[in-house]
Amino acid sequence: MSEHIQIDQAGAVLTIRMARPEKKNALTVAMYDAMDRALRDGILDADVRVVLISGSEGVFSSGNDLREFATAPATLEDSAVIRFLTTLSSCPKPVVAAVSGLAIGIGTTMLLHCDLVVADPATRFSLPFINLGLVPEGASSLLLPRLVGTLRASELLLLGEVFDAPAAERYGIINKVSAPGAAEAEAMEWVMQLAAKAPNALRLSKALIRSETPGTGARIMEEARQFGAQLQGPEFREAMTAFMTKRPPSFG
Ligand code: COA
Repeated sequence: MSEHIQIDQAGAVLTIRMARPEKKNALTVAMYDAMDRALRDGILDADVRVVLISGSEGVFSSGNDLREFATAPATLEDSAVIRFLTTLSSCPKPVVAAVSGLAIGIGTTMLLHCDLVVADPATRFSLPFINLGLVPEGASSLLLPRLVGTLRASELLLLGEVFDAPAAERYGIINKVSAPGAAEAEAMEWVMQLAAKAPNALRLSKALIRSETPGTGARIMEEARQFGAQLQGPEFREAMTAFMTKRPPSFG
């Protein structure tokens, strides 16, 4: 278990909290592993009816730990991050996310697999894979065009710019913008409503809603293959050196 992931089960609600604020909740292998295990246990535990994913102190996540990327395994397909994304994308129970501060990289792509998402008005989102010499992950290349249209998905994934919470709501990436500082409290209201619903009907309803996006698991793997190859290549090396030395990358 990672000390940076806090797991709490209260009644029907399983809360998975990313808690590494000193690194803006950058996610490590140990953290993905802990989240994956907690989610798997929650799926098997009949007492758990709803999952809440949240962050800490005004930070959801700054994405994958970039220093760990530099030592990534050659085959990303069987890594902890892919296990976590696969478990999340196939979770039969409703997953609610409370987002605040930063939602970068997987901090945004994991939201595409959640059922209800509430974000603080000050949240900044981005899918900066291209800026790192990488490709989309978490089936975002499949889910985002369906959600926001091809042109908008190209804007988000090819330019990799930051967008704010009202834009995320307009694009349909989040359900609603909360009152300032109230994302978790408002998400919790939905969590409690879901916890009181008939669990079988919820499971069946979620499966029906998600049946519109077949091929998600296969896309996660295909992206992981390309992502892994890029991680070993010169473009990511340049982006990483630029990040470490705090200068803009030059892709020549
Ligand atoms: N991986 C590893 N470390 C990270 C990180 C990440 N994704 N995001 C932040 N950190 C670390 C910083 O290196 C810094 O560590 P230090 O105190 O040891 O120097 C610490 O977290 C605080 O971050 P800092 O950059 O000082 O905060 P900020 O508010 O100025 O900027 C970000 C925050 C998130 C905008 C900036 O850190 C950033 O761009 N991070 C990279 C985001 C990214 O590209 N993620 C990968 C997506 S695939």
